[in-house]
Amino acid sequence: MRDEPLAHRKDRHLALFRASDRNLGDPGFDRVDLHQEALSGVFPDEPDLRTEFLGTSLGAPLLLASVTGGTPSGGDFNRAAARCAARLGLPMATGSLRILFEDPATLPSFDVNGHGELPLFFGNLGVATALGLGGARVREMTDRLRMDGLFLYFNHAQELAQPPREHERFDLSAVPDFIHEYCNPVLIKETGMGFSPTDLQTISRWPIAALDTAGAGGTNFYLVESDESAESFEERREMMLRMGIPTASVLISAKDFSFPLIAGGGVRTGLDMARAFALGATLASCAAPLVRAWSRDPENGLDRWADERLAQLRMVLSLAGVRRPRDLSGARLDPRPPEPA
Ligand SMILES: Cc1cc2nc3c(=O)[nH]c(=O)nc-3n(C[C@H](O)[C@H](O)[C@H](O)COP(=O)(O)O)c2cc1C
Repeated sequence: MRDEPLAHRKDRHLALFRASDRNLGDPGFDRVDLHQEALSGVFPDEPDLRTEFLGTSLGAPLLLASVTGGTPSGGDFNRAAARCAARLGLPMATGSLRILFEDPATLPSFDVNGHGELPLFFGNLGVATALGLGGARVREMTDRLRMDGLFLYFNHAQELAQPPREHERFDLSAVPDFIHEYCNPVLIKETGMGFSPTDLQTISRWPIAALDTAGAGGTNFYLVESDESAESFEERREMMLRMGIPTASVLISAKDFSFPLIAGGGVRTGLDMARAFALGATLASCAAPLVRAWSRDPENGLDRWADERLAQLRMVLSLAGVRRPRDLSGARLDPRPPEPA
């Protein structure tokens, strides 16, 4: 599908998630021992979800992660997400801006922070595209969109699913220069396979603002791009299942480093969020559930989805006997490493 126009591909992705999950394995949260405290003195209206991130005060520690932009329905999604984020004081990212660099007429579909109503608003680019464009050009575009920074995504596995298997090559050593030239916060993410301890070691030498795990156990872009009718599909899926690094495992490895962490990949409930905070994340992020909620009800679906997850998080904090998400860090962990599902 390499010849498929980018706009078709983006709308195909949105449609795919209306119908089904593209989750790979288990994000590993079930190995975090976060039990209720029968003697909790925290009443359900007491937990305070306000969270500091990159020097900004957020209404709650939930990022509406990168999904789309560049088509009329992508614009509808981004506007609905921005309304929800502005109401609740949540940070939000758009999907890849590559289509915007190829076709400037798509700008309105990304332009959802016209009055600066979002507490934090981020753009998104694949690392190869970003390095090709250069930090100054990308900065000019994200400033135009009143963005506070950029998510730079790595998608090695996804590229391998795209025939003909031409991996877009780039020079990893150019990433720090890109970040310096961009001169605004750069956050790093994956697209469903997570980061290894060696990756994290390398990334820790870059001047990044934060890292989103985008680990295995949630949406996986290798599966999104794979041809499910191919004879080899099941075998290859199993391979990816064994090689993807679950979100909880990435969080555990990343605790050794000082950059702020966003737990993404398979975060579905308030309990998943709480367990991610117990593992050291400052924010949780979600993508596929947003698409499903918006598809079911474009007007109110995202609001209802977010309100319910934040109510669940308050409930879990109350049960665990803590008042703020950050007070969860230090919860007991089951030392067993997550196994592939
Ligand atoms: C429809 C869809 C489109 C996405 N597009 C992008 C993208 O353009 N850039 C990116 O970095 N990640 C993209 N992602 C990945 C998400 O940002 C997120 O990292 C991943 O889906 C894991 O979260 P989840 O398990 O909550 O879906 C997309 C995800 C979905 C569901």
